[in-house]
Amino acid sequence: MSYKERKIGDTLLKVEDISLSFGGVKALSHVSFDIKEHEIRAIIGPNGAGKSSMLNVINGFYHPQEGLITYKGQVRRQMRPHQAAKQGIARTFQNIALFKGMSTLDNIMTGRLLRMRRNVFWQALYFGPAVKEELEHREAVEKIIDFLEIQAIRKTPVGRLPYGLQKRVELGRALAMEPELLLLDEPMAGMNVEEKEDMCRFILDLNDEFGTTIALIEHDMGVVMDLSDRVVVLDYGQLLADGTADEVRNNQDVIDAYLGVSHGDDESLEGAA
Ligand SMILES: Nc1ncnc2c1ncn2[C@@H]1O[C@H](COP(=O)(O)OP(=O)(O)O)[C@@H](O)[C@H]1O
Ligand SMILES: [Mg+2]
Repeated sequence: MSYKERKIGDTLLKVEDISLSFGGVKALSHVSFDIKEHEIRAIIGPNGAGKSSMLNVINGFYHPQEGLITYKGQVRRQMRPHQAAKQGIARTFQNIALFKGMSTLDNIMTGRLLRMRRNVFWQALYFGPAVKEELEHREAVEKIIDFLEIQAIRKTPVGRLPYGLQKRVELGRALAMEPELLLLDEPMAGMNVEEKEDMCRFILDLNDEFGTTIALIEHDMGVVMDLSDRVVVLDYGQLLADGTADEVRNNQDVIDAYLGVSHGDDESLEGAA
């Protein structure tokens, strides 16, 4: 814990009083919390609590009807996806969203597109700089492949990879954007114990080595306890609790929400003990 306490910085993102509804469904009601630089922030809660919606608000996929988003000191009513991406917010999805027919390498390369598009003009005008650019992008991608230990599958079409490796490639694509804030929507769902351990290690390492700030939706409370500095708990679109993993685990409202029969989920706090 000590090394993390030292390196956690100022507020990177703040959401205030965010409300989002779809027709009659209130996905989020007056939710406020912040994420500090270099922090690993878990977002937990039963299914339908609004966790994925919150990430979608942060990266501009959903536009809340109410509230404010402050990112790097800039206050907005809503994010735009390209704005979020350009400013260093990357994400992975609850359901894998990769190009199944394309190789690991090419999928990760698509994460560089945003950075490349800036240089289309250059590529048309000057051959030299364009080649240099291309090489730089390839180098960045190779670094990620090394970091995630997926050299052996670099040429394999991702559709042929087992689920756990596909999740790793998706993380690779998000990393290719060189994010400052990485949003991970259930990166370990459906993984076996060994795959989960690998994924935990990558998340901790990238937080440690690159200082990447991470917001993580995760159901496995053992993982949440191990990884996160602070935890946000959502329930029925509302903020139920916010604090350290220990504080949240001992919060009676949280315990009740997880034990409540109405959600009918397989989630539990058992892994936390
Ligand atoms: N695009 C959408 N259209 C309509 N309803 C949505 C949409 N996205 C989310 N919802 C609803 O918002 C609520 C919260 O969903 P979600 O954010 O996916 O929860 P979680 O990720 O915590 O399981 C649910 O009732 C869900 O059906
Ligand atoms: Mg979700």
